[in-house]
Amino acid sequence: MHKPLANKQIVLGITAGIAAYKSAEFLRRLQDLGATVHVAMTPAACQFMTPTTFQALSGRPVFTDTIDTQLQNSMAHINLSRQADAIIVAPASADFMAKLTHGLADDILSTLCLARNCPLIIAPAMNREMWANAATQRNVKQLQADGVHLWGPGYGSQACGEIGSGRMLEPAQLLAESLAFFTPKIMQGLRVLVTAGPTEEAIDPVRVISNKSSGKTGYAIAQAAQRAGAQVQLVSGPTALAQPYGVDFTAVTSARDMYAAVMQRAPQADIFISVAAVADWYIKNASDQKIKKHVVNQLPQLDFAENPDILAQVASLDHGPWCVGFAAETEGLTEYAQAKRKRKNIDLLVGNLVQKVLGQNQTELILYSDAGAEHLAKGDKQEVAPLLINKIMQYYPGRTQEK
Ligand code: C5P
Repeated sequence: MHKPLANKQIVLGITAGIAAYKSAEFLRRLQDLGATVHVAMTPAACQFMTPTTFQALSGRPVFTDTIDTQLQNSMAHINLSRQADAIIVAPASADFMAKLTHGLADDILSTLCLARNCPLIIAPAMNREMWANAATQRNVKQLQADGVHLWGPGYGSQACGEIGSGRMLEPAQLLAESLAFFTPKIMQGLRVLVTAGPTEEAIDPVRVISNKSSGKTGYAIAQAAQRAGAQVQLVSGPTALAQPYGVDFTAVTSARDMYAAVMQRAPQADIFISVAAVADWYIKNASDQKIKKHVVNQLPQLDFAENPDILAQVASLDHGPWCVGFAAETEGLTEYAQAKRKRKNIDLLVGNLVQKVLGQNQTELILYSDAGAEHLAKGDKQEVAPLLINKIMQYYPGRTQEK
């Protein structure tokens, strides 16, 4: 499994909130990604979840007391915060946020936060009125001014039965935030437009012709660009995948829909990464009604027309984005890829052999440019996507004009 958080030491702080049960799952997922997690709990948090649970899950002692005579120097607050790459307090109660705002240190977790020399992140969790309260909002402003990072809160139903803002983010969202937090921001300030998935061209309301594409590569690239700090717009054909976190998502069906969505967004983008497997043709005489097999006494005659080449159109825009294309071929990859790159007038084209990667989790990419071919390490699509983003930034000539 891909371990993007290997070598990261994280202190997970638990305060008194019912959302603390979700932190157990968050801890496990952090570990899956390679992080070492140390848990510190406030005394009141121990009424919601037991230290034993976190000890068993993390495989390490859980810190609940400021004074611990078992430790050599009883300075867990110093030792832990010096090793850590970040402290993440999830859930962070209203009371704990107030404490942080004023620099109080009357339990192990608040002491740890005060003594830290690493980033501090909090994931608030409280009732909507507590969150909206002027005192809490004042504390939020002060904490942000002090450089504390806030993840969430989310909006939705609350344990108290009310609905509103104040829910802790879900473990998957906290994990997505963690990955983004630790990714170098090499795309900070850039607007990146990505297409992904197949397109579907209607024969009639229930039948389509399409390309085989799971969307996995495009989604992974969109997510990796977002984690690298870009503002990402993903225009996607039909896939079975969950929308990437923190990415502006537009669902389309046909190539002509995709073309319209892309052309509307392309002028504002700095980089366009065209991963979609766009159908080359649409059916001009598509039927409005389902074609009945037993009524037509001959096979349906499909009248094909060419779809717009979205990538070539974007590449020909006057003040358009810098373009990266993809080529999936079954043979003669180098030859076809380089020819396609020149025909579409783009600097960088990413090639792969269809039979090796289609629908798979693994991928093997080759970058074609004027300089020739460059192989990217083979691996999981999730793992290769950030490598490709790094490479794209090596090739990217920079913004040519203000948009
Ligand atoms: O289909 P083809 O091999 O030409 O695809 C090469 C590149 O062009 C891909 O990046 C694909 O997303 C893009 N393309 C497109 N519009 C099309 C066909 C392909 O944007 N109609």
